[in-house]
Amino acid sequence: MRTLLITNIGELTTFSDDIGDAIIVSDRVEWVGSSANAPAADERLDAGGAAVMPGFVDSHSHLIFAGDRAHEFAARMAGEPYTGGGIRTTVAATRAASDEELARNASRLVAEAMRQGTTTIEIKSGYGLDVENEARSLRIASTLTTETTYLGAHIKPSPDVDYVGLVTGAMLEACAPHAKWIDVFCERGAFDVDESRAILTAGMAKGLQPRIHANQLTMSKAVQLAVELDCASADHCTHLADEDVDALASSHTVATLLPGCEFSTRAPYPDARRLIDAGATVALATDCNPGSSFTSSMPFCIAVAVRDMRMTPAEALWSATMGGAKALRRNDIGHLGVGAQADLVILGAPSSLHLAYRPGVPLVKKVLRIGVPQ
Ligand code: NIG
Ligand code: FE
Repeated sequence: MRTLLITNIGELTTFSDDIGDAIIVSDRVEWVGSSANAPAADERLDAGGAAVMPGFVDSHSHLIFAGDRAHEFAARMAGEPYTGGGIRTTVAATRAASDEELARNASRLVAEAMRQGTTTIEIKSGYGLDVENEARSLRIASTLTTETTYLGAHIKPSPDVDYVGLVTGAMLEACAPHAKWIDVFCERGAFDVDESRAILTAGMAKGLQPRIHANQLTMSKAVQLAVELDCASADHCTHLADEDVDALASSHTVATLLPGCEFSTRAPYPDARRLIDAGATVALATDCNPGSSFTSSMPFCIAVAVRDMRMTPAEALWSATMGGAKALRRNDIGHLGVGAQADLVILGAPSSLHLAYRPGVPLVKKVLRIGVPQ
């Protein structure tokens, strides 16, 4: 593969020991050092003092759906609470949509995310909720990412059937070949802790790795379950007891915070400061979905996390890149150390500080994914 040398970088964030103001990439990072003594490469790009950083790792999204819920959002902004009940509206629209429509919607959102600097995105099923629609959701997701998550346990579509039996039986059978991860919405009105444990362990027995929607709307034992099962990530963490913070801090489970969700549901933000100060690993992700957080923008999440969750700009950048990589148990992305996958962003700004300092401004100027300009 051809090599590209980028010189004259104003601020090069690598999150590794490899430092400098120049980088050479092929499909991997080949070299990092100073512009003055950079080796030759096939092509050259002068960054003109701009900041270069790893591409964002968005470790939590729900992109396989049809329709939108703008009216539900408007009602919320007029005072209605968010309950998750609107998931049913999206399930109905998703079941009625063709494969082509679902694929088109999802790839449009992936392209939108990539224009904002996302180079890896996890995508969940969860708006099919029957064997056929969950399996096709994952088939479509797997054309867009390798980070596919089976979320048949999003809600129970009908009280009359043994839905946990279905999710751990025929649906798992049909979905496991297309998924890397298994997730459960562990929440009052969705799946309780025992059901969630049964669902995640059934998935693990099929080779899927566990992650979980935990403590989003209420305090529960979901975070404890995440740690018990060594989930890669406990997502949301909006309502945490001290014992949850302690459990996360002494585990390998990442606390993935989703500020777009609190922003769009007017819920209190998760206490990122408390988690970081306790020693927990924190990731930031969009939770992009039509109900609780219809944003694909990692820069937006960084700006909110810095402004309203008391994260420093440096912490937020790390959480949106390295944190996401850890939430996906990946060592090859989220950083620009030599050998990393060449996923990088050139900003139209001298420093990544501008991501939070200039909220809402499209600062991503160029994106390389596996070394290829997007
Ligand atoms: O992560 N909490 C569960 N699932 C999504 C929201 C789904 C929806 O409202 O459509 C979430 O917030
Ligand atoms: Fe979610």
